Amino acid sequence: MRSRRNFLKQMSRAALAVGAAPSLLARALALPQSGSTDKPGIDTPRIDMPGEDGLIVRSFRFVDLETPVEYFNTWLTPVSHFFVRNHMHEPTELSGDVANSDWRLTVGGEVDKPFALTFSELSKLEMRSVVNTLECAGNGRSLHRPQVPGVQWGKGAVGTARFSGPRLRDILLRAGIKPTGKDVMFRGLDEVPGKVPPFVRSIPIEKALDSDTLVATHMNGVPLTKHHGFPARALVPGWIGAASCKWLTEIKVLDSEFVGNFMSPGYRFPNQPVKPGDAVKPEDTHPLTGLSVKSVIAGPLEGTSLKAGKVAVHGAAWAGESNVVKVEVSTDGGASWNPAGLGHDEARYAWRLWTYEWKAKSGDYSILSRATDSEGRTQPATPVWNPSGYLYNAVDQVKIHVA
Ligand code: MTE
Repeated sequence: MRSRRNFLKQMSRAALAVGAAPSLLARALALPQSGSTDKPGIDTPRIDMPGEDGLIVRSFRFVDLETPVEYFNTWLTPVSHFFVRNHMHEPTELSGDVANSDWRLTVGGEVDKPFALTFSELSKLEMRSVVNTLECAGNGRSLHRPQVPGVQWGKGAVGTARFSGPRLRDILLRAGIKPTGKDVMFRGLDEVPGKVPPFVRSIPIEKALDSDTLVATHMNGVPLTKHHGFPARALVPGWIGAASCKWLTEIKVLDSEFVGNFMSPGYRFPNQPVKPGDAVKPEDTHPLTGLSVKSVIAGPLEGTSLKAGKVAVHGAAWAGESNVVKVEVSTDGGASWNPAGLGHDEARYAWRLWTYEWKAKSGDYSILSRATDSEGRTQPATPVWNPSGYLYNAVDQVKIHVA
């Protein structure tokens, strides 16, 4: 059986050869099913990847898979539809039999009693569940003008799941935090290629001690899959996805913010508005934390042609640590706005589904959606450009035709 890396290399070559758009290529390749009956040992390009569910491959080097927006029609995103963002290779040594492996979660740094937990010990701690909308800070990057380097995400590097596991707080309090403890660092077990720095980041102690911040072992009621951080990941609700370190192996209390590539220059935002295309000095930036207010139209889809009559314009809206209080829809390119109905399912850090019943007459339309949150933040009409293309949250738009 070919390794994942070989398979990705093979896809990469295929993409270069045919010059195919990654999304089309992924669909055309009809990636084999993870539950396929192919016997191990047979030389088939088999890969433990949910591509068979139509996820869009955004990067061939590592596993970066985007959820098509039409999947944003359930409050909880099925695991097989959930986007994947990997900065490097997934750890190969972690297997399903983690209870009998030498995997340990170490807890140390500015604590009185450092210790290490086996998976069985971790699993015995009291569990808590948090429904969280996880969004990559780079979601929507491809929509920024001028374009910026990085994975060219469309609108689907986001999803909502019920994450469960022990509270990080309980683990930290067991270790006893010294008064010098200011930040909590997470280290993932990613396989680091060449000179790429390891995926290590930290969050402030206040967020680490929040009773909704977890060491998650489960997603939607089942153990985490490898793509999503098996056997354990941090879950920092309401914050950019990068805060939620996967394949967790070390938790360390620090006396200051962690210094490293994924804290700086990575995942920082300009302190002041920037003219699109301008450079920003590192000292004029701050680390990204909570998500922005945002809505995405899941249907009708861009470029569709519909029959005149009742059309349900629908989608999802989220606001990180804040609550979505209003979603409005415009069917006339932003000249007038109508309130959408919000779905019944709700939880503190989770998106709300929304629908607007529109009586469509024939013509060409620009349909817009705009969310407002409990902090009074509203999606801007134009994107807030920044050199890394983070936190794209402009009013969403689809162009459609009604026959
Ligand atoms: N953790 C590790 N160890 N390595 C990574 O590359 N990517 C981060 C975060 N945790 C990453 C990680 C980023 S940028 C995001 S958006 C989320 O994981 C994505 O989580 P998901 O792949 O489960 O959707």
